[in-house]
Order: sequence, then structure tokens, then C-alpha cells
Amino acid sequence: MEKRLIIAIDGYSSCGKSTFARLIAKELRYIFIDSGAMYRAVTLFCMRRKFITINGLNTMGIISELKDIHIDFVFNPEINEYETFLNSENVEKEIRSMDVTAQVSRISQIPEVRASMVEMQRQISVSKGIVMDGRDIGTVVFPDADIKIFMTASVDIRAKRRHNELKNKGINIDFEEIKRTIIARDIADENRDISPLRRADDAIVLDNSRMTVEEQMLWIKEIIDKKRNDS
Ligand code: DC
Repeated sequence: MEKRLIIAIDGYSSCGKSTFARLIAKELRYIFIDSGAMYRAVTLFCMRRKFITINGLNTMGIISELKDIHIDFVFNPEINEYETFLNSENVEKEIRSMDVTAQVSRISQIPEVRASMVEMQRQISVSKGIVMDGRDIGTVVFPDADIKIFMTASVDIRAKRRHNELKNKGINIDFEEIKRTIIARDIADENRDISPLRRADDAIVLDNSRMTVEEQMLWIKEIIDKKRNDS
């Protein structure tokens, strides 16, 4: 039987990590876990409980309720995708809102939140055959992952892609504004005290600035085949 792999995909925001990870999982018939969606779901939970206010964060409140947060990924055959569920409620759309996006980096900096998510991520993955994307998958969650990819692309290209994505949804935000947000998120991701974004020593870098999705898939297929033949 073919060896079932753990594939970790980390990198900067708006690099197309989730799209790439999702496609790999479909191709291999693996489970896809969007770890960013988990931090987004916790953020939504905290917003609803009013743990995030203009005066700051109620960190103790958040920590005391962490045990009440259950996150699942449920396959929806109608759209052929996994969707994020928070305590049995489908929150896939809500966690992508601008409000959640604006707050998520504060919540994902809380050490207890990270510990709880890492624990959940490892539990979901006890059976192998996983593609997980995030910021600390190859460094913290699965330091022994079979394949580690670190994705990057130029800020201009990422801003252009995000701009088009929003335009297609009918949302018009100034290009320079998007670019500033991307730069600010890079700085926040790279400089936080706990699990900052960094390339694992054994991760392969994928700069997809000038690559189509099809080209990226051909590139990863070679890496997967080689890994399977070597092991
Ligand atoms: O990938 P994304 O934009 O959906 O991630 C949302 C936020 O969660 C982002 O601020 C970075 C954070 N995150 C993290 O700290 N660790 C992960 N493994 C995944 C995401």
C-alpha cells in the first residue's frame, strides 16, 4: 500500500496556500486542514462572547472557555469542499469576514489558544494522509512532516491577487490599502513572540509569483512521487 503522508504548507498570507493545499488533498484523497480557519473560528467565538472590545482583550475569559470550543471540518458534497464548524454550527462564511480578519492576529498570539489549537490539529491528524496549511505547521505542529513547503510571493503580486478576488466579490478596496494590510500582516506573523512565521530548515521554498496553479501542482507532484519512491 502507498505510504500516507503528512504534508505541511506554511507561508505568508495571501500566497494561495489554502488553494494549493486543498488541491493537493483532493488529488491524493487526503484530509485538508486549514489551520487559519481554526484561529478564525476561535476569534469569532471570542467576538460573540464579547471577549474582544475596544478596551482590549479579556484574555482570562478566553482561556477559561477554550475547553468549550470544538472545531470540525465537515465535507459538503454539494460544493465538494470541507467547511468549518464551530460547536456544530457552520461558520465557514462568517470566519472570512473583515471583522474576524481584523481581530484574528490578536487572538492567535495568545499562548493558551495556540496550545489548544496545536493539540486539536495533532488529534485530527492521528490517521495519516493530511495536508495542513498555516504558519507553524512544519516548525511546531508537525516537525516530522514528510513534506514541508514554505510558500512565498512578492507583495505586489499577492496584493494584486487579493484585489482581484475582492473585486470579483463586488468589494472595492484601494490597491495600496490592500498592500499595506499585507505588509502589516507579514510583520505581525514574523515578529510575534510565540511560533512566529519562519521557514523550517528542511522546508522547500515555493515562490509562486510567476507560477500558475497548474504549474504548482506539477511541481509538487514530482516532490510527492520522489518522497514515495524514496521511502
Ligand atoms: O491563513 P489565514 O489568513 O486564514 O490565517 C488567519 C490568521 O491566523 C493569521 O493572522 C495568522 C494566524 N495563523 C496562525 O497564527 N497560525 C496558523 N497555523 C495559521 C494561521
